[in-house]
Parts: sequence; structure tokens; C-alpha cells
Amino acid sequence: MKKINKATEKRIEDIISALTLEQKVGQMTQTVSWAGNRDYYKDRIRKGEIGTMICGVPEVTADHSAEAHFKDLLADYQKTALEESPCNIPIMFGADVIHSYGVCYPVPLGSAASFDMDLVERCYKNIAEAAAHDGLNWTFAPVLDLAHDPRWGRSVESGGEDPLLSGSLGAAIVRGFQGNFEPGKNLIACAKHFIGYGAMEGARDYHNSDISDYFMNNYYSHSFRSAVEAGALTVMSSFNSVAGKPVTASSKLLRGLLKGEMGFDGFVISDYGAVSQLLTQGVCANLRDAARVAAVGGVDMEMVDEAYRNLPELVRSGEVDEAVIDEAVRRVLRVKFESGLFEYREVEDYPIDLDRHIADARELCSENAVLLKNNGNVLPLKEDAKIFMTGPFITETVAHIGAWAGHSDYSLIKNYADSAREMFPEKCPITFSENRFSDKVYDDIPDGCEAIVLLLGEHFHSTGEAVSVNSLELTEDQVMLAREMHRSGIPVIGVINSGRVRALGNIEEYLDAIVYGWHNGTEATFGMLDVLFGRKSPSGRMPMSVPVCTGQVPIYYNALHPARDVDGYYGTDVSYWKGSAFGTSKPLYPFGYGLSYTKFEYSTPVLCRDGLTVEDIMNGETFSVTCKVKNVGDVGSKEVVQCYIHDELASMMRPMRSLAGFKKEYLEPGEEREFTFTLGRRELGFYNDEGEFTVESGEFTVWVGDSSVTDNKITLSVK
Ligand code: NOJ
Repeated sequence: MKKINKATEKRIEDIISALTLEQKVGQMTQTVSWAGNRDYYKDRIRKGEIGTMICGVPEVTADHSAEAHFKDLLADYQKTALEESPCNIPIMFGADVIHSYGVCYPVPLGSAASFDMDLVERCYKNIAEAAAHDGLNWTFAPVLDLAHDPRWGRSVESGGEDPLLSGSLGAAIVRGFQGNFEPGKNLIACAKHFIGYGAMEGARDYHNSDISDYFMNNYYSHSFRSAVEAGALTVMSSFNSVAGKPVTASSKLLRGLLKGEMGFDGFVISDYGAVSQLLTQGVCANLRDAARVAAVGGVDMEMVDEAYRNLPELVRSGEVDEAVIDEAVRRVLRVKFESGLFEYREVEDYPIDLDRHIADARELCSENAVLLKNNGNVLPLKEDAKIFMTGPFITETVAHIGAWAGHSDYSLIKNYADSAREMFPEKCPITFSENRFSDKVYDDIPDGCEAIVLLLGEHFHSTGEAVSVNSLELTEDQVMLAREMHRSGIPVIGVINSGRVRALGNIEEYLDAIVYGWHNGTEATFGMLDVLFGRKSPSGRMPMSVPVCTGQVPIYYNALHPARDVDGYYGTDVSYWKGSAFGTSKPLYPFGYGLSYTKFEYSTPVLCRDGLTVEDIMNGETFSVTCKVKNVGDVGSKEVVQCYIHDELASMMRPMRSLAGFKKEYLEPGEEREFTFTLGRRELGFYNDEGEFTVESGEFTVWVGDSSVTDNKITLSVK
């Protein structure tokens, strides 16, 4: 990233003094790029009315053949801005490039399940390269909203229920997108949606999130802090309100928490139409008032409302201080300088290495498959076995694409049958049947069939914005299919292709094995077949707890300790009445859980340093904890080694456990490795009731194991 030096700061101030009030407000304005003709926008650019544009990208093809017109259009706008606009300020061209551009990669929740942040970073670098190739320089991603409720349609875009995992994912995506801002190869990232969007009551989109300061500081803000530290240059404020105040109007959150406490020095853009929605939310009487409230609240740029046209007059009437405008423009210009846009030059057309991008996508698709159950080691399938495959995903292609993936080349996706035939060109071991809902399906099972694979899940249309669901169970026809197939006595394997965590309590008993896949995009079917046939040992882990039934939601592992010492984790049986539908408070599968085709043995963790005081920790000293992990099976596989922590006695209640670190490594059969976790200020501390970050003396339990319910632990004490 280009860091701003004194000379650039001076240039920014010179520009601010040279611009008229209207032109300054132009830098705070985002327009669409599609509601007028080319001349209309060029004219507005010349007048200095446009700071950024949200771009509707035409149909995207992986070979970039269809985008020439689009690329030319953006280059034309940029040339106009750089040569003819006041002070020659470049335009930012943004789009929702969330997990695809041409090649489609797994949805973000699926990337979280890989627990492989280096691979994620590599994939997002590819996405940035493909999108920047067509002239875009900004993306509205990543999503950093913590998701404690899988009913929320946008949990698909999140990193799941854990602050550390979701922050690590966000930081990896930011690094992948932004890189070092090579011309034509990177995108400016936008950490969104700040803040609390994942905590709306009942997962109802656009509603209120009643978040206490304690949860805001310790849960919801954590991932945004990570993205800011990773250098995210822009942040999008969220649609929702927090504790009765729309975030678009919240100086406490935007100026206080984000720009103040977190030290974010890029700019904040509102969400689409969110400034005018202040009227709908009932806190502003008209657009003029909404412009005042949002600008004063800390929204530096409005997305498409054009309410900020009122700002010059509001300044002249004394209702808005001009310093508010100058500060916003300073932030916008800083981003344009830091991302190298002022040094814009036309980039020679270069070929995208499509084969490499597709290979990376396939790797991520197999790295994120989570093996939840494998009774009798029915998986992996043998390549010379007789296998029967059916279920609603048998013929699907586009359903794998996932929400927010409009910029994908749909023609690249193959269904399971076509991919299997390509993988086994000589003799495909699978018989496929599309007779999934009728009695006929029995007749299609070949004699001597050794395993039935059911391709289950949800279409991506039931995930994303404004598509929360109020039932997490798979549809009744899928449960019936599993029940019927189970009656055959042949082992049944359920493959779940999904954009959210689903409640599996009513289907689990009919499935001998369960592999949780995601909306994995272009290489979805190949990645899953790699895992089913043992070409890859599964190594994904659950980024959210898997509920037994919808009624358990919200259910997350990092909850506060209940008042009674209920017998088990997440609270167990005594929290819910045993006679209720499923009668348990435990999730079906916990956060961090996932099996592989081998077994790993963990040694008891060892504390490598002791005797640190609170002061030492606050000054940056750290404990380290090591643990040996051995692959005791006969298959090479990756393991996700996870470290959790709990502060045993504190002035505030602390989560029963919180993830303090994770590492994913490949171990050959018989290989043993030592894993080390460093525990310091960030891992041991928390924000107290006064909002101060503190570490308190006393004992901490530290677990190192293969999921959030491991009991492999030691105690450390802070003096
Ligand atoms: C609304 C969505 O909430 C946001 O995520 C997206 O970036 C904008 N629309 C722009 O499409």
C-alpha cells in the first residue's frame, strides 16, 4: 500500500482549497453508472459532480471477451476525470465483486470453513486481477458482520460466528484485493456493513440490532478492527439501526468507534439508498435533513441518493460546519492517493491465467468440505465401487454459484454427473438418477450398489440480501428421500450444498455420512467429488454451530456462561425441556468441528512461559503454548489445530470459550508436528463495562484441540 507522505498531504490540502463547495460535495457523491448516457456522465464528471460510481458490470465471461465495451467506457470516464475535471481527480469505479469475477469461488462462509487464509488470500488476488482487468478499481467487500443467526440470508457473505475467524477471513480478503495496488491488478476493499447487521432481531433484514456496548466492543467490532489493521481503505455503513439509532446517522459508531477508537482514516460510504432511508426509519423529515444527519454523523460519501446536493446550502445556512465537508473530502482524496489512482496510466492488456485461477478455485472447494459424520468409514468412495447418486442437486449448475455472484461466467459450471464423467473418462463408477421424488427412484438403484450419495441443499436464491428464512430444516422432500433411501439398507451419504448452516436434526439419523459443502461456484462439483473419492482428505471445519432444529437459534459456542452450571457446553439439557421437539440445548455439531480420513492424536498442551503480570501483558509480553499433533492414520491429511481460551474469573462474564488461534497444516501418515500459539494482550484481554480494554489477573483455561468442544487443556495464570 502506498503510504501518504507529507507532500501528498499538502497536495490534498491544496486540492481542498481549490475546489468550490459544490465540487467538494461532488467528491462525497456516488452515482450509478447506468441511468444516463455516456455524455451525460462525462458532463457531470467535467463539472466535478461525481466522486465515485457504482457500476453495473455487463455479463462477465471468464475469457473477458464480452467486457471490452465496459472497459472502454470506464477508461473514457477516467480520462475525462483526469484531464478535464476540477483538479483532475480520478474516479473510483466500484462494484459488488464479492466472491467472483468470471471464475466463481466459494461464498465467503465457505471460505471461512476452509480455515486456510493463505489460500483465501490467493483466490481473492485472482478475483481482483480479473475485475481490475476490466477497469474496476473498487469492490464492496469483504463482509465483516458477525453472524450468530444462520436464518440471516447474508450469513452466506459472513465469516460465521467467531470474531477471530471472521476477522482473519476479512483481513485475508483485504490483502488479496488490495495487494500493493499494482495498476490494473488490485481493487480497493470496502469493509462492510459497519455495524451490527448480523445481529438483527429474528434475522429480519434491515431491522434493529439491540447490541450492548459490551457485545459491540468484544464481539461485533473485532472483525472490523482486523480489517482496518489489514489496511481496508473504505468502510460501508450498514442499513440497520443499533439500539434505536440508524447507523447511517450514528456519530457514536462512525466517528466514535470507527474513526476514533479504531483509527480508521479512509472514508465511509453509506449503503445503497441508506441516506434517504433515514426518512423511512423515521428520524429525518426530508432529504435535506437526511443529508445533514448523515454527513454530521460521519458518512463521508453517499451511495446514489444525491441527497448530499443539499450540503452546500446547509453549509451556507450554518447548519453544517464546512469542516465536516473538508474532512470527508480529505478522506476520499487520501484513498484515491493511497490506492495509486492519481498515478493512473492505461495498462497494457494482459492475459489472465485462467487455468491457474480455476485450479485455485478447485483447491478452495475441496479445502472447505466439512465431514460431519462417517459411520463405518463409508467415505471415501472407492473408484471401482458401484455408487448411486440422486437428489435435487443432481442436475444443478447455477444453484452452486451462491449469492452475490452476478459477475460470474455461468457457462463454466458443470453439474455433478458431467464432472464425474470427466473425472472417470474410462468407466464412471456412478449411476445417476433424476427420479428423486418418486417411488421410481428405487428401481434405478443398480444391483450390487455399495453406496447411495444424496445431493441435497438449497438453491442460492434462498440466501443473500432480504432472503432470511424462518426455518433452517432442509425441505420435507429431501428428508423423505433420505428416509426412503435409508430403508434400502445401503449406506447413505448426504452431501449438503448450502449457503448457510442448516438444522440437520430431522435428517441426520438417515445418513451414514454427511459432508457439508457450500455454494462453491465454478469448481463446486469437482471439489466435492475430489473429497468423496478420497483424492483429498476433507479438512474444512464448521464456521458456525450446526443446530439440531430451528428453535435452538441463536446458538453459538462463544456464549457467556449460564447462571447454573448446566451439564455440558453451550448449556445443555436443563436449558430446554427434554420433552420439547428435540429436547436438547446442544448443537448437532459444534463450531470448529470436522472429521478427515485419518486420525490425529493431540498431546497435552505445554505452557512455555509462566509468571507474567498484567503489566507485562499490557506491555506486549506473551505466553506461548505448544502442543504436539500426530497423524496416527494411514492417509495424509490436513488438520486444523485450534486454540481456545476462557478467563475463569473476571469483572465481567466472559465467553465459555473463545478462539484464540488456529493453524492448518498437512501431516503425512505417522508424522508428528509441534504447534505453537502465542497468547498476549489481544487473546487474554477484553473491553470492560467502562469500555476500557483490560487484562485481569487470575487463571485462564487454554484448550488446544480439534474443535470448540475439545477437553485437551492446561491452566495459565496472570499475576
Ligand atoms: C446493498 C447491499 O447491502 C450492499 O452490500 C451492496 O454493496 C450495495 N447494496 C450495493 O449493491
